[in-house]
Amino acid sequence: MTEYMAIMEYLKKNLNQNRLNHSINVGKEAVKLSNLYGYDEKKAELAGIVHDCAKDIKLENQKHYAKNCGFIVDDLTYKIPELIHAPASVYVCKNIFGILDIEILTSIRYHTTGRENMSLIEKILFIADIIEPGRKFEKVEKIRALAYANIDEALLFALDATIIYIIERKLVLHPDTVKARNYIMDFLC
Ligand SMILES: [Fe+2]
Ligand SMILES: [Fe+2]
Repeated sequence: MTEYMAIMEYLKKNLNQNRLNHSINVGKEAVKLSNLYGYDEKKAELAGIVHDCAKDIKLENQKHYAKNCGFIVDDLTYKIPELIHAPASVYVCKNIFGILDIEILTSIRYHTTGRENMSLIEKILFIADIIEPGRKFEKVEKIRALAYANIDEALLFALDATIIYIIERKLVLHPDTVKARNYIMDFLC
């Protein structure tokens, strides 16, 4: 079941309308960034369309999927509902869609937190998720502008914005986000 139409059918049944629109938008945004930075647009589009595919299923099921996704999932990720859909979506991609491309799967696994030394598709998905046209928040225009000028600068700014947002709301900050931020900061200096 790797065909695009079959995947879309699944998403239409398992995502709410807003999430479905968001997923399609992330796919389109990922294509644009791929063309600009020289990545396979088909792979990036697929990653964008499926990146949140487990987000609307029950939290308990997401945790079960995450346990069997094939990536290491740390205890903190299990405790933060906003993060667990990333490894859970990897499970759906592998076991329901038959997506086995490790670059696509890795980009989905880390699309919420980022991580140290992100690959190009990981950066593309992370940024596309944040800047797709449906996103409206204070710093989004700046991230959009940076994304089309220098994806690493966009990544640093987006990670900083995420970290500030999390701290201001007294939420738990995942260490991978800090590691992603410090790595890209060091890379840019
Ligand atoms: Fe997500
Ligand atoms: Fe998303």
